[in-house]
Amino acid sequence: MTRNFTPEQHLAEVLASFDGSTDDRLAEVSRAAVRHLHAFAAEVGLSREEWFAGIQFLTAVGQMCDDVRQEFILLSDTLGVSMLVEMLDQDGSDGTTEPTVFGPFHVDGAPPRENGDSIIETELGGDPLVVEGAVRDLDGAPIAGATVDVWQTAANGLYDVQDADQAPMNCRGVFTTDRDGRYAFRTVRPVDYTIPDDGPVGAWLGAVGRHPWRPAHIHLVAAADGFVPITTHLFDATSEYLGSDAVFGVRESLAVDVASGSARFDVVLDRS
Ligand code: BEZ
Ligand code: FE
Repeated sequence: MTRNFTPEQHLAEVLASFDGSTDDRLAEVSRAAVRHLHAFAAEVGLSREEWFAGIQFLTAVGQMCDDVRQEFILLSDTLGVSMLVEMLDQDGSDGTTEPTVFGPFHVDGAPPRENGDSIIETELGGDPLVVEGAVRDLDGAPIAGATVDVWQTAANGLYDVQDADQAPMNCRGVFTTDRDGRYAFRTVRPVDYTIPDDGPVGAWLGAVGRHPWRPAHIHLVAAADGFVPITTHLFDATSEYLGSDAVFGVRESLAVDVASGSARFDVVLDRS
């Protein structure tokens, strides 16, 4: 019997199956996902065993997830997809602060703190650091009343939510800019740390010869009424991992001097 049904005809049949969708965007995204998945399988000549191994990997990723561990976000981050989506979604005007990944360790409801306050609730050592900056618009005018939500690991390289020895909300706080658009806080110098690598994503990174390190950084989300919020980091300009971040989040413009014990990080927001 002649086998004359081609992969192209097969793809066309699958794509046509979305024609009855009443959700145009969902159909568009589904068709594109199918097109790229079929092209991927065809490009590498995927065997049945390999496809099954991939399904087992994704099953293990799902089984690793709970309220505090989101292995799928780690997978998206380490594939570079999270950063790509940030670039597409936070596609601000030239001159605005560059965005980077949100990551899985933000906590809603971090305590509001006064400018100049410390975000340390549990003393775990580390080099003292003062971070100061201003939030401005594209014309350089200060934005008063902007919020700057910051979070980072303690000196042991762990976030409070990963470490029973840290008080909840350690190394977190929400600051509000003063009339000159300025914010300031005291903390410890951030350290290089590994993303959680004891699950299937860590095993895959090891198998493909990649490391799980992120360069030392502090997360910030700056927001103000009438402006597009920005999710970003400030990075330690001396980190040895700046060129090989496990989640591809580094941008040169975000690397600042923290070694001197004081860091300056200004944020520029675009009007919404
Ligand atoms: C973080 O910077 O907190 C982070 C980002 C991506 C994956 C894991 C952690
Ligand atoms: Fe982080």
